[in-house]
Amino acid sequence: MKITVVGAGKYGSTTVQRLAEADIVSEIVMTDIVEGLPQGLALDMNQARPIERFETKVVGTNDYAPTAGSDVVVVTAGKPRKPGMSRMDLLEENAQIVGGIAQQIAQTSPDAVVIVVSNPLDEMTALFQRVSGFPHQRVLGQAGMLDSARLADKTAEKLGLSPLVVDAITLGSHGDTMVPVPSQVTVDGKPLTEALSAQDIAELVQATRDGGAEVVALLKTGSAYYAPSAAAAKMVDAIVNDTREVMPVCAWVTGEYGVSDVYLGVPARLGRGGVEEIVELDLTDEEIADLRAAAEAVRTKQADVDALI
Ligand code: 2OP
Repeated sequence: MKITVVGAGKYGSTTVQRLAEADIVSEIVMTDIVEGLPQGLALDMNQARPIERFETKVVGTNDYAPTAGSDVVVVTAGKPRKPGMSRMDLLEENAQIVGGIAQQIAQTSPDAVVIVVSNPLDEMTALFQRVSGFPHQRVLGQAGMLDSARLADKTAEKLGLSPLVVDAITLGSHGDTMVPVPSQVTVDGKPLTEALSAQDIAELVQATRDGGAEVVALLKTGSAYYAPSAAAAKMVDAIVNDTREVMPVCAWVTGEYGVSDVYLGVPARLGRGGVEEIVELDLTDEEIADLRAAAEAVRTKQADVDALI
């Protein structure tokens, strides 16, 4: 099995590192337009193999020939936010970059499952699918895993508990219409509402929506990559190993939650074919309304993206 990661920035290279160390495929190709960068990172990662005890070979390249025939492709290329920017400010520039990549991947890896992580996430996922012409179930986006992890971690911090005892899920868009879902959050198996007040929960929800911007403001150059790459690698693992785990991802919906024909953050069962099924959770009326509002916001922006291609 072969994985390609497009973009050798922090997000791309940490995703490659996590997947290589997991040793789940024989080869990972990392491609980037900057000469020497993917090659140098690949060399360095391969030299960690005798110490970390993994066999996956990492190949760095500036073109797409070595990526040919990939089973899974992760698209991380594009500009990250600067402090004060919204993910949507990246729309036009990243649409050109992601559109070009979609053309290349469609030619070189026509059977791949593609995970897009470039921002604005929901729109770039839709754009990749449109340009590549791939079936919707083979093009998905990473955001819900990351946003859910942020909600879980912030909840654990607030309660002074281990992050491992919190289960959280976040749906909707990877932006202002993100829908953290408190009704589905559990702490040690019990509903979050038993552990925190409505005011505390509302603050956690807002902090989760602002979670990416919080990191950008601190870093000043670039955006988060440790948690994002962990999220992307987990999705790749589910696809490569056909685990059929349910994860919150950006997927094409066809009537689920009363929403059709748009890319939206929803729980989906992942397997070798990409999105195997979208899972409908028992949400509150308010959460359903927020999810539908997110869908309409993404739909409007997707129309802008369609005008760019
Ligand atoms: C984030 O939320 C990079 O969009 C990503 O950190």
